[in-house]
Parts: sequence; structure tokens; C-alpha cells
Amino acid sequence: MACLIAAPGHQALAHGDGAPQPVDTTGLTPLGDDWRVTNPYREAGPEHDRAIEIGARGYNSNCARCHGLDVKSGGMAPDLRLLGETEMDDAWFTSRVLGGAKTGDSVKMPPFDGLLSQEAIWAIRTYIDAQSE
Ligand code: HEC
Repeated sequence: MACLIAAPGHQALAHGDGAPQPVDTTGLTPLGDDWRVTNPYREAGPEHDRAIEIGARGYNSNCARCHGLDVKSGGMAPDLRLLGETEMDDAWFTSRVLGGAKTGDSVKMPPFDGLLSQEAIWAIRTYIDAQSE
């Protein structure tokens, strides 16, 4: 009986799990509304290090459940360590994160447009790059 009652609740929880988590980007240079073409936090230095820390939190709360802890894919979603660091890779990264991915009506990855700030998205990108070095 307990099982029958618990089952629907458990399913609802599994769905609710996906709620995007805001990322506190205090300490990073604010970027405004114009999207950068390339990662503004890529260059080595104190801001790069801060972006890695902030990006780790953003990644763990928004991406890890599909793309894997420490950016090591368990096979459910592509291994993001394989992304390069060219301008084209940056464009692909932001278009995917903002727009998500779907096949027909089935959402494979939710869009993060309007949910994560530009600062948070580039910080996550910086963290991912740091995991592939
Ligand atoms: C619900 C699971 C899920 C979540 C959450 C998720 N993704 Fe994805 N992501 C996927 C899947 C599945 C794909 C592959 C889509 C396809 O087949 O086109 C993908 C593709 C991508 C790609 C393209 C990779 C490539 O090699 O082409 C990027 C970049 C990416 N995700 C980044 C992120 C980031 C950053 C986050 C967190 C902000 C995130 N994803 C959250 C499931 C997810």
C-alpha cells in the first residue's frame, strides 16, 4: 500500500528534479545583454579561476545529472570534455545551452535561455574546459 501511494509522488519528484538552479555570479565582470562570441573568461588569471569555481557550482546543479559528475559522461548525454575551444565551439556551446535540444516533440535537453545569465553560462563553459585539460 505504501508503495502504491509513494510511486506517483516519486515520479513527480523525478520530474521536479529538473528545475533550473540560479547561479550566483558575484565576482565576475558583468557582461550585459550583448552575447559575446567567445568565452570572455578564458584567459588565464584571477577572473578565470573565479569563473571555474562559479562554473563548477552552476554545472553541478544544472548539467551534471545528464552530462555526468566532473563532466565525465556516463553515456546519457554527450561528453562535454570533447568540445574544442575555438570560436565555432563557443558558438555551438551557447546555442545548445540557450536553445536546448529536441527530436520532434521529445526534449533531450531543456533550453536555459532566460534561466541562466550570460555570466553563468560562460562560467560553466570555463569549468568544463578546465576539466578537459
Ligand atoms: C535533461 C538532461 C540534460 C541536461 C540537464 C543538460 N543537458 Fe546538455 N545535452 C543533453 C543531451 C541528451 C544532449 C545531446 C542532444 C542531441 O543529441 O542533439 C545534450 C547536448 C549538449 C551540448 C552539445 C554537445 C555536443 O557534443 O554536441 C552541450 C554543449 C550541452 N548539452 C551543454 C549542457 C550544459 C552546459 C548544461 C547545463 C547548463 C546541460 N547541457 C544540461 C542532455 C542534457
